[in-house]
Amino acid sequence: MNAAGVLGMSPSILKRIYDSGAGAVVTKSLGPKPRKGHPNPTFVRVEAGGLNAMGLPNPGAEYFVDEIKELKNMGVPVIASFFGGSVQEFAEVAYTLSRAGADALELNASCPNVAEELGMLAADANNVEKVTAAVKDQTKLPVFVKLSPSVTNIKIIAKAAEWGGADAITAVNTVKAIAIDVNMRRPILANVTGGLSGPAIKPIALRCVWDVVQAVNIPVIGCGGITTGEDAVEFILAGATALEVGTAVMTHGIGVYKDINDRIASYMTENGFKEIKEMVGLAQE
Ligand code: SIN
Repeated sequence: MNAAGVLGMSPSILKRIYDSGAGAVVTKSLGPKPRKGHPNPTFVRVEAGGLNAMGLPNPGAEYFVDEIKELKNMGVPVIASFFGGSVQEFAEVAYTLSRAGADALELNASCPNVAEELGMLAADANNVEKVTAAVKDQTKLPVFVKLSPSVTNIKIIAKAAEWGGADAITAVNTVKAIAIDVNMRRPILANVTGGLSGPAIKPIALRCVWDVVQAVNIPVIGCGGITTGEDAVEFILAGATALEVGTAVMTHGIGVYKDINDRIASYMTENGFKEIKEMVGLAQE
């Protein structure tokens, strides 16, 4: 899958991601109402990655229903990423997106750019459990809960999501970070801080997957800096059963999904694996 938000949210771009080898597409995070997001600059390239502070711009879940239907009509499996400002808003948006025909929901419990405004959900196990349970009450769809790496103990947060009824954990969102312009002597992003993604965070994301796999009995989706087939294999060996690729599509183009798939396949041939599931978690044994 793509990671939520990469390349925007037009159905035609998401369809191209699917055609280039993703097994499903993830929408940009949708909220209860239209939201402009943060002022520019909202993105800066940094060493081995990117720093974004988009601030969850989106047209509102209700206004994206037709786009989800359009993707479904084109035969594309759709995971709708979503957020809310309260338990009730999370539940309402989940309900709207389920009715729209999404195949699964990804509950964004981890955007680093709106934490103060929308409540410190990411680091609070009780809230994560409460929000997940409220969402599960409103939908029969599988719910993936996307976690932040910037927490003291990700195992506790993952367990809380599982107790709330999560069907899978996506590990992880971006790492809160900062970049400073030495000439202006000011932070580059208007929001001051942003979320770091790309190869810079791959070892952190891999460690989070490793930890979460040990903590829960539901599938774990690996996300964070995956760029090559070898990266993908590392996450699978750590225990991930599916993967999301985000920043690499900006640095390597849309063909990155096919390249990663091809390299996983050649790794399997070279090493005598017939099915991905034979490799899942092997490094933990
Ligand atoms: C953003 O819109 O600020 C990024 C979304 C996210 O990191 O969840």
